[in-house]
Amino acid sequence: LAAPVAAFDPRELRGVLGSFVTGVTVVTTLDAQGQPHGVTANSFSSVSLDPPLVQWSQACSARSHPAYRDADRYAVNILALDQMALSQRFSRSGEDKFAGVATRPGLGGVPLLEGCCAHIECRKVAMLPGGDHVIFLGQVEAISRHDGRPLVFGGGRYMMAFAHDTAEAQQAGTPSRIHVNAVRLANAWLPEAARALDAMVGLGVWGNHGPTLVGWEPGRAPVAEDLRVGTVVSPLHSATGLALTAFLPAPITAEAVAAEVAAQSSGGNPADVQAEVATRLREVRQRGWARSRPGQFVPGVAAASAPVYDRSGEVVFALTAVGEAPRFESDGALESGLLKEAARLSERLGTPV
Ligand SMILES: Cc1cc2nc3c(=O)[nH]c(=O)nc-3n(C[C@H](O)[C@H](O)[C@H](O)COP(=O)(O)O)c2cc1C
Repeated sequence: LAAPVAAFDPRELRGVLGSFVTGVTVVTTLDAQGQPHGVTANSFSSVSLDPPLVQWSQACSARSHPAYRDADRYAVNILALDQMALSQRFSRSGEDKFAGVATRPGLGGVPLLEGCCAHIECRKVAMLPGGDHVIFLGQVEAISRHDGRPLVFGGGRYMMAFAHDTAEAQQAGTPSRIHVNAVRLANAWLPEAARALDAMVGLGVWGNHGPTLVGWEPGRAPVAEDLRVGTVVSPLHSATGLALTAFLPAPITAEAVAAEVAAQSSGGNPADVQAEVATRLREVRQRGWARSRPGQFVPGVAAASAPVYDRSGEVVFALTAVGEAPRFESDGALESGLLKEAARLSERLGTPV
């Protein structure tokens, strides 16, 4: 092997390799004594369709390595989303990994784990040295596939995958379907928005009781307790509520706004309150984003919120950043970042740009 051209930190290498997201398998085999072995492996990958070949690699230091080295066959069990515990169990050395695990014998008696997404039964055709690992090349002899979504692993963490349904969110289907897809899609982007803004972020929709939080990402340094998803906020005082009220068509928001105006007008003149509300909403529309009343949310904490549009140009969400109040008073960097993130999210929902 060529000498490395640049020195890098092994931890950084691990991090970089971890950004390649994989499924999770348990590779099983039988040793010469007929004892079953199983190891969690995400090094599995396909190699060739004709002939059908797959590969995985094992650390030479693994306790079970001699069993795989000497065995003629192995089976790749592709784990399902609900099999995280199995993954953990088969990644720990030394215990009786198969105790209480439901299996059935595959080709050559190699155990197949029940409840997996798929099984690939292989005859080992080559072993290649791979540094501190050995690469096992296997010829596929039997396959089976079952219902179920796969377990996913990346960045050192278990994950779940769902279809990248931008296309569906873009389709002019029924509004409720678009909405469900859009919520799923937008929630998937929240961690990224929280990172970009270095703030807590929330996602609001207009529900049947008014502005409602449907997503929440605490970010690196949360400034408040987690906001409960499903919380209904004020349409005129919260940043999320104001952003939705200002940018949604008036008939949608009219009832909730009227109720809040009535509540505020007790003892005063509703026309004055109404005029004040109209001014506030006009300001929000001019600025392009809304701000909460100071201390509305939590003392010392402020929020700003911007509208997110779908393909039809309708407002579907308010994207809200929550942070220490001074961050919203200084140079407007947080607000401009928020507008950028809201625009980016709109784009991801398919807004024509
Ligand atoms: C998600 C995940 C993926 C893993 N992938 C591999 C792999 O591809 N190759 C490997 O040798 N070990 C891998 N391991 C570690 C092995 O599962 C672990 O070393 C093995 O089960 C040790 O068992 P043994 O000492 O009984 O052989 C992985 C662990 C986890 C949690």
